[in-house]
This record gives sequence, C-alpha cells and structure tokens, in this order.
Amino acid sequence: MECGFYLVLALVSLGVVNSVVHGQGTRVGFYSSTCPGVESIVRSTVQSHLNSDLTLAAGLLRMHFHDCFVHGCDASLLIDGTNTEKTAPPNIGLRGFEVIDHAKTQLEAACPNVVSCADILALAARDSVVLSGGASWQVPTGRRDGLVSSAFDVKLPGPGDSVDVQKHKFSALGLNTKDLVTLVGGHTIGTTSCQLLSSRLYNFNGTNGPDPTIDPSFLPQLKALCPQNGGASTKRVPLDNGSQTKFDTSYFNNVRRGRGILQSDQALWTDPSTKPFVQSYSLGSTFNVDFGNSMVKMGNIGVKTGSDGEIRKKCSAFN
Ligand SMILES: *[C@@H]1O[C@H](CO)[C@@H](O)[C@H](O)[C@H]1NC(C)=O
Ligand SMILES: *[C@@H]1O[C@H](CO)[C@@H](O)[C@H](O)[C@H]1NC(C)=O
Repeated sequence: MECGFYLVLALVSLGVVNSVVHGQGTRVGFYSSTCPGVESIVRSTVQSHLNSDLTLAAGLLRMHFHDCFVHGCDASLLIDGTNTEKTAPPNIGLRGFEVIDHAKTQLEAACPNVVSCADILALAARDSVVLSGGASWQVPTGRRDGLVSSAFDVKLPGPGDSVDVQKHKFSALGLNTKDLVTLVGGHTIGTTSCQLLSSRLYNFNGTNGPDPTIDPSFLPQLKALCPQNGGASTKRVPLDNGSQTKFDTSYFNNVRRGRGILQSDQALWTDPSTKPFVQSYSLGSTFNVDFGNSMVKMGNIGVKTGSDGEIRKKCSAFN
C-alpha cells in the first residue's frame, strides 16, 4: 500500500519534471490547417527587418534563448509592465521586439487568435540564423503563451559564470554539455557591451592586469575598442571577431586562439569537458546540424500546450 503510494508519487513527479523539462505536444506543422501561411509570414517579416538591420538577427536569437530559460518558451519575456521579465537587467539590452509585434499583427489579420507569440519567437530565431547564413531546421510548433512574467524569476547563465555553473544551469533544463557549447556557438553573430569585458581587460580577478587567457596580439585591439574609463556602457564588441554577422564556425576558431570575448566564452576552451566540442566545431564538423538539434531541444523547455496558457492577441500583454 505504502509502496504503491510512493510509486504513484514518484511517477507523478517524474511526469511533472518531464513535461517541464522536455515539453510535450509540440510538432512540426501544428498550424498546417489553422494557419498555413504562418511560416512564410514570419520569415518575410524577419527578412524585411533584417534587410535594413542585419544585427537584429542576433537580437532575435538571444530573445528566444532568454525566453526559454525563464518559465519555458512561453513568450513571458515579451510582456510589458512593471517588474516583468523584460525589465530584468540581463534583458535590458534585448532588441527586435518590433519584429515580433509586426509578425503578430500580420498573423492576427490572416488567422486571428491562432498563432502563439511563443511560436513566433521560435520561428523568428530560426529564420534569423538562416538569413545570417546558417543551416535551416524544422521548428515544432503548438506552444501557448504563458500567464506569468516576473523580473524576479530571471536567472540566466551569465558572462562571468564558470563552465560548471553554466553546465548546472543548462542541465537543470534538460540540456547537456554538448548542447551548452553548441548553443553558446550562437555567439557567432552579435555583439556585447564593453562593460561586460572591462574587468577582463584591466583588472582580471583582482590582478590589476588582463586575463592571461586572452591572445596577447588580440589584447591591444580589445583595449582600443574598449578603453579604460571610456564609456564602457555604450561601446560594443563583436562576439565573433571578423565574422560578426555571418552564422559560421569562426566563433570556435576565435575561442581556440584566445579570442573569445566574454570570460564564459573563453572558459569553454580552458575546461576539459567543453574543449573537445570547441575543437571539433572549429574544424568545421557538424556545428550547423547540431545547432538546429539543440535549438529544438531548447525550444521545448517548459512549453505550455493544449489548454494551458493562452494565445495572446498582442505579444506584449496578457489577454
Ligand atoms: C582568482 O584568484 C583566486 C585567488 O587569488 C584564485 O584562487 C582563483 O583561481 C582565480 N580565478 C581565476 C579564474 O583565475
Ligand atoms: C576584429 O577583426 C577586424 C578585422 O575584420 C579588426 O579590424 C578588428 O579590430 C578586430 N578586433 C576586435 C577586438 O574586434
């Protein structure tokens, strides 16, 4: 009796963990009868915005990641208001909200109340990668939009995190060490604020000098871009030197050569558990295919499906 009770309890809690971590019920082509134009509407919208500003691609990719890591991929990040996720410090610099809103407006005209904002984010992230030169993948859809958004829940992996801390944060969401390296490879596009880099350049770990893992021939370039006491909060550095708008494996080559920008980037080469993945990706191997696979895994974190959540009419507000 007691045994049976505990068994049921164990199964129930396993089930909960499973649906929170892996998500269930999303599938490729979820809207094929209810909104067959969804993929082309999102793609053409993303394309038109990227045509005028290709750097938005990195913004949209990062937005999906920041959404999925907090309360699952449920568009909780998009909600406007006091103390919503969007207002939390790691989300302040996010860009591209207007692209999502633009796609939503067109989708509401084509098929009202059908397509979730969470799915628009997942599709826009994929389209951003493809339009930057990466390989495509099929995006399972059928997510619904969440009903909770709180700045206090935002605990994302950070640029100063050790590899162990990063691994812990990823594995808590069902993502392994390979997924970690693969997804961080998204830094093949985009930039970061000099602010997140200045201690590495000028006072690493209290040494009053630079991080010794930085390539010595790269250091003067970084210092020129990010001068000490020189407006660190407004200046930006490409995360993948020399290839910042192209989705390719150049990022991994840079990390190998001590040209990772954030401490968390460079640590992937120092740590023995992540180094082999950096090595094989830098040699060109299966990064493109792996990236799509890891994005599908990430895109299923904590998804709401069926009758959970809602389909928002406007992405920035609950219905
Ligand atoms: C920072 O300094 C402390 C002690 O000074 C040392 O134990 C630690 O390993 C250093 N960290 C790094 C990342 O170099
Ligand atoms: C990166 O690469 C370019 C060459 O494309 C170079 O001019 C630039 O100064 C480099 N350094 C940094 C820190 O971005």
